[in-house]
Amino acid sequence: MNRRKFIKKSIVGGTSLLAVSNINMANTWAQSDNKSKVPAILGGQKSYTGQWPVWPEWNPATDEKQLIDVMRSGVWSRSKLTDEFEKKWAQLMGAKRSLAVVNGTNALNTSLAQFEIGWGGDEVLVTPYTFIASVSCILFNGAIPVFVDVDPETFQMDPDKIEEKITPHTRAIIPVHILGLPCDMERIMKIARKHDLLVIEDACQAWMAEINGKKSRDLWKRGMF
Ligand SMILES: Cc1ncc(COP(=O)(O)O)c(C=O)c1O
Repeated sequence: MNRRKFIKKSIVGGTSLLAVSNINMANTWAQSDNKSKVPAILGGQKSYTGQWPVWPEWNPATDEKQLIDVMRSGVWSRSKLTDEFEKKWAQLMGAKRSLAVVNGTNALNTSLAQFEIGWGGDEVLVTPYTFIASVSCILFNGAIPVFVDVDPETFQMDPDKIEEKITPHTRAIIPVHILGLPCDMERIMKIARKHDLLVIEDACQAWMAEINGKKSRDLWKRGMF
């Protein structure tokens, strides 16, 4: 059998196996007289019938005018509005300063570059359960991502699993505040201080999230910020 035939056969076999097992599962649920347990995709009741939240959100009355003002000003790079935004954002986050960039990916790329984390075998601890940019920023800068697994209860980086991944090459930790929830920053910062590591928080999914009264921010450096 050549490779092409093997793949074709395994896919057909795998699909029918899946279909049969789904039918069996649905029958078992149906027979147990508990129809609400049948997944909606197999004919069960939908558990959520509302509208999914729409994203991104903006206010046409205020936001659109500001966009048009910038477009018409002819200054499409750093403008007065950017300075204003940075000041207000820093204030809102309780940070000393902020620097606006085009998106979260570039915020992460810039943060690592700022600390010269990159070529030469630098390792950065990050979680595998995240958007690709949390990992690609490490590769983009030439460093090596090392995965620290998440806590299955919270989906956040598990502080208990950090120290076993630290080597003499480790430079930084990127905790990702995934799903709008904050990581256990107190424990992570404690470990970082003990091993003299930088901490760059990926707060792309958790603006304004707080833990113990502190907001998640994009950057901490050895407790400097
Ligand atoms: C956890 C996380 N990190 C980084 C990013 C990258 O942000 P952006 O899409 O603005 O480049 C995202 C975007 O969804 C994200 O969810």
